[in-house]
Amino acid sequence: MANSNMAIVAILLASLASAQDLTDPGGSGVCGHAGLKEHQELPSKCDIDEYVGSHVIFEDDFTRVWNFTLLPGEMTSMHIHNYDYSFLASEPSKLAVWGGDGKYLFSFDATGTMSFVVSGEVLQPANGVDLPWTVPRIHAAKNVGTGIYRELLFESKTTTNKTSDEVKTMKKAFGMTTKSEL
Ligand SMILES: *[C@@H]1O[C@H](CO)[C@@H](O)[C@H](O)[C@H]1NC(C)=O
Ligand SMILES: *[C@@H]1O[C@H](CO)[C@@H](O)[C@H](O)[C@H]1NC(C)=O
Repeated sequence: MANSNMAIVAILLASLASAQDLTDPGGSGVCGHAGLKEHQELPSKCDIDEYVGSHVIFEDDFTRVWNFTLLPGEMTSMHIHNYDYSFLASEPSKLAVWGGDGKYLFSFDATGTMSFVVSGEVLQPANGVDLPWTVPRIHAAKNVGTGIYRELLFESKTTTNKTSDEVKTMKKAFGMTTKSEL
């Protein structure tokens, strides 16, 4: 027990030490291809950053929360997801998605909530959801709808890349129990 506690503390410290400061008031950049049409390939590659939303609005050892706004026609930076995450689209729109190689991938109605788990170089939809496309961890999205797009995005810092047994052990170490264990 004491050993697993220490392992968890070490993991937490390691992830804190490598965390990038994403509280820059400038927020995320853009993958700068203003006239880019849905289905077109990017004319040149974009730099890859770790801005998975517009601004970090809350962060602790467990979670990072982002606000995320795209005006009609606005595009995100080309970014990588290092953490499992969920998003809640509070003002839905249609988004088009490009991969890090510049290839157009798919468009979708970003609405409701969705969760993804980091799995190698792709993001697997969580909770048994089946998507018709593969979502790479590196991508950029453009609001190709007519209205403003807003979402809140929640990154799960401690459960990413962990098996459910490892998550269970970690929760125990923190004295957290799930309903089924009560
Ligand atoms: C997102 O958060 C930043 C930083 O707190 C704030 O400046 C910005 O106005 C927020 N944007 C939206 C759309 O909520
Ligand atoms: C999860 O694993 C991927 C490699 O599969 C790595 O690139 C990423 O940084 C890891 N994330 C965390 C939070 O450890």
